[in-house]
Amino acid sequence: MALVKVREVLEECCEGKRVSIRGWVYRKREGKEMIFLLVRDSTAFIQCTVRRSSPAWNVAERLTIESSLTLEGVAKQDKRAPGGYEISVDSISIIGLAEVFPIAKDKSEEFIRDIRHLWLRSRRMNLVMKVRADVLDFAREYFKAQDFIEVSPPMFISAAVEGGSTLFGLKYFDQDLYLTQSSQLYLEILIYSLENVYCIAPSFRAEKSRTIRHLTEYWHIEGEWPFADMNDLMRFEEGLMAHVCQSAADKCKKEFEELGADITKVAQVRAPFPRITYTEAIEKLKTKNPKLTWGDDLGYEDEKALADEFGKPFFVYDYPTAIKAFYCKTYRDKPEVAMSVDMMVPRIGEISTGGAREDDKDMLIKRIREMGLNEKDYDWYLDLRRYGTVPHVGFGMGLERLLTWMLDLENIIDAIPFPRTTRRFYP
Ligand code: 4AD
Ligand code: MG
Repeated sequence: MALVKVREVLEECCEGKRVSIRGWVYRKREGKEMIFLLVRDSTAFIQCTVRRSSPAWNVAERLTIESSLTLEGVAKQDKRAPGGYEISVDSISIIGLAEVFPIAKDKSEEFIRDIRHLWLRSRRMNLVMKVRADVLDFAREYFKAQDFIEVSPPMFISAAVEGGSTLFGLKYFDQDLYLTQSSQLYLEILIYSLENVYCIAPSFRAEKSRTIRHLTEYWHIEGEWPFADMNDLMRFEEGLMAHVCQSAADKCKKEFEELGADITKVAQVRAPFPRITYTEAIEKLKTKNPKLTWGDDLGYEDEKALADEFGKPFFVYDYPTAIKAFYCKTYRDKPEVAMSVDMMVPRIGEISTGGAREDDKDMLIKRIREMGLNEKDYDWYLDLRRYGTVPHVGFGMGLERLLTWMLDLENIIDAIPFPRTTRRFYP
């Protein structure tokens, strides 16, 4: 008999039909005359009932939580069953009988994090991972529609992109190398050949802060392109965000609903986004944080206060040069201000940083020296300014921060299957 997915049984009116499914036992309840099984596969759950008179009774009795099986029976509508259908089972074949499953006993947060490899079978993680895959598709759709080419940058690198304080060093044979913090500098190389490029790749940060928005390994959606300015950059980013959010609102309704996430919040994301300068942000924040002065970096609490006031995604741009990376382009008539922009969302604060890149070789050398970096390490980067330099912009958005906001997740660790934090790297 042909196997079907559980979702098909639930959606394609299988009333009265014989079906066969394959999956795992999610729950089991044993009555005198009936055993109730909740069976899951990758697509959904379905209630399966085994009567004492059924030939499957003896096998059903032996079943334990998370045992894998194939079963056969007749599908019928039952309003009391989750999903509206159940299967009245007459044959079960056990594939792998499970030992006593630990999650049934202990559901504390700490324990669930320790056994991530088993917790990933939960409905919650199943749904988050599906939305994550869809969001990646939506992002790629947008880049492709704007004629961007996907490229594959390296993860082993020889010089820092962002500040040295969050750089992971490693032994590469007998050499000292690093794990990349951002693929930006490599995308900058590739624009001279392909012009509009993007990548979706891991970035690594030796980030000690334990917050709801920090991982040590995260996935970074980064784009870079020539002949563009700050306005082009913000328009692209808000377009990307609107496309991702509206596509999710349209195609991931079921997942949002089951996860209890506010879908109207994402459905309402529309370009253009509000834009304020860093200077305006400081003015706005002064009442809440009187210690804050022009030149200070915005902390999580500052960003959150601003973002909660807007209640939707927005941009803060034109930051002080002194708090920005060496590659940021500065205004020629205002060198203390850098062409840098952050996108922020409620509750999380910053979800992307981008800007115009310094395209003048001498200015770039000056910035590298000012920041105490070694010019030699960036010789290849300076070559890009030596040979046919062009004005260009780019940005990086953290995929997990985006998902944490979209799905109202409590903590960023639930936006990625195998979170890496200061304390967690198992399994
Ligand atoms: O602001 P960041 O450090 O900017 C860059 O890396 C640029 N070179 C990107 C570019 O222009 N191509 O990082 C960009 C984004 C942040 O806004 C945030 O969403 C995410 O990466 N991010 C993190 N996400 C999770 N955990 C961390 N520790 C993160 N650090 C940055
Ligand atoms: Mg940033």
